[in-house]
Amino acid sequence: MEQLGGQGYFTRASFLGAELASRVRTDAQAIPLRRAGIRRGHELDETVRSDELAWLTKDETKGALSMAVTHFERLMHELNDAAWLGLRTFDLQLAHYAPGAHYARHRDAFPGQDNRRITAIVYLNPAWVPEHGGQLRLHVAPPVELAPTLDRLVVFRSELVEHEVLKARADRWALTAWYSAR
Ligand code: OGA
Ligand code: MN
Repeated sequence: MEQLGGQGYFTRASFLGAELASRVRTDAQAIPLRRAGIRRGHELDETVRSDELAWLTKDETKGALSMAVTHFERLMHELNDAAWLGLRTFDLQLAHYAPGAHYARHRDAFPGQDNRRITAIVYLNPAWVPEHGGQLRLHVAPPVELAPTLDRLVVFRSELVEHEVLKARADRWALTAWYSAR
């Protein structure tokens, strides 16, 4: 929590447990995805991002994915208890980067414009090796690069931390929650 207040982020090697994370990946592969748009009118701009995604609602998820939703709910309560963030809801997104896909440097929220406060990402990629690229680069000082390895959790302040996804050279799956105080 000190890191979240200071640097603006923290990471943990494990979140769901490796077994559940693997099951989530398997189930995720059966979910229909669509190309990600960028904000302004959601036009497709592959120079900015080239992932594919699906928004997940709690009621629609079952099995491993609904267990993952429970973990994200628990994390929300832990964050509130530790830091008085007043988080009340979250949007959940599944994202797939095919080999060659990336997401250019951006922020997930802008002060006053959006009420996303905290971004939490869990990665679903067993056997990820450095040659696969696809790191999440956080533009903190000094910048950090995090490989999207199975079950790794990254949590950062949505308004504060600029970040990008470097080009992936293998299929890269992630599940992201954006927590809001709305
Ligand atoms: C996003 C994003 C990072 C990642 O979807 O906004 O920045 O590591 N994802 O998948
Ligand atoms: Mn982002």
